[in-house]
Amino acid sequence: MYSYTLLLLLFCFINYSESPPEGNNLKHVTEKKGENVTLSCESDDREITVVKLSRLSKNILVCENEECKSENGRVCKEGSCDVIINDLIYSDAGKYILLVYYYNNDQREVKRQIREYHLHIHDEISVKKGEDLKLDVLLINADKVERNSRSGWTEVWRRGHGVRGHGVSSDRLTVSDQTLIIHDFTVTDTGTYRALDSNNEALITVTVTESRTESKGKLDNTDDDTEQISVWYWISSGGMIVYAVLLVLTLITLVVMYDESS
Ligand SMILES: *[C@@H]1O[C@H](CO)[C@@H](O)[C@H](O)[C@H]1NC(C)=O
Repeated sequence: MYSYTLLLLLFCFINYSESPPEGNNLKHVTEKKGENVTLSCESDDREITVVKLSRLSKNILVCENEECKSENGRVCKEGSCDVIINDLIYSDAGKYILLVYYYNNDQREVKRQIREYHLHIHDEISVKKGEDLKLDVLLINADKVERNSRSGWTEVWRRGHGVRGHGVSSDRLTVSDQTLIIHDFTVTDTGTYRALDSNNEALITVTVTESRTESKGKLDNTDDDTEQISVWYWISSGGMIVYAVLLVLTLITLVVMYDESS
């Protein structure tokens, strides 16, 4: 019986491996770099047999036990068929295809379910003035890099064209392997940068701010001061309103008393 099932399963693999993914239910998932993300298969409690994850036409090993997890596995199966990717890095961004094989109700046939995911990763970095801003976003599946400026998104880099530099003076831009570098960072380089794939879907979005050199304690103190000032401001302005109301009431009383007495 067991070998029969195995054969059946094998047959299904051969039978299905050539067919392209049908039913385009693409799911968008967004998570911050360093966090964990779940590609949920949203399957009812059918009897799942095999889960296969692939990306850029390559299979990805999905850990299914603790041993594998403790070795190196960042990609693990959870529950019946959810897949978790731990400790996200930029190069995890992009499209995933999850194949779930399960038995149909009478347990005699193995069926296949296809899920597609687009994983978008966001991050925040801060750079000191005069230093290099390094964006490791030129992934193999990245087609262009844009920057958000006052006039909307402008292209900074495009595959096959290299550095475009709209919005950033291009003599300060260089490319090294997967990294786009903006030299001699200034406050005008702050903002949002994003890498898009050939379908114009965002792979990575990086918010870049200027790193402050002042000590954190100092900054905290000034924050406290402004908070105290604003508290006193509200108390005193609240007091002023009470005084004003009292003054008006007193005046009305005086006028009424004056009217009655005359
Ligand atoms: C991500 O998953 C790992 C392993 O399961 C866990 O140790 C870690 O706390 C998780 N990180 C976050 C940010 O949830």
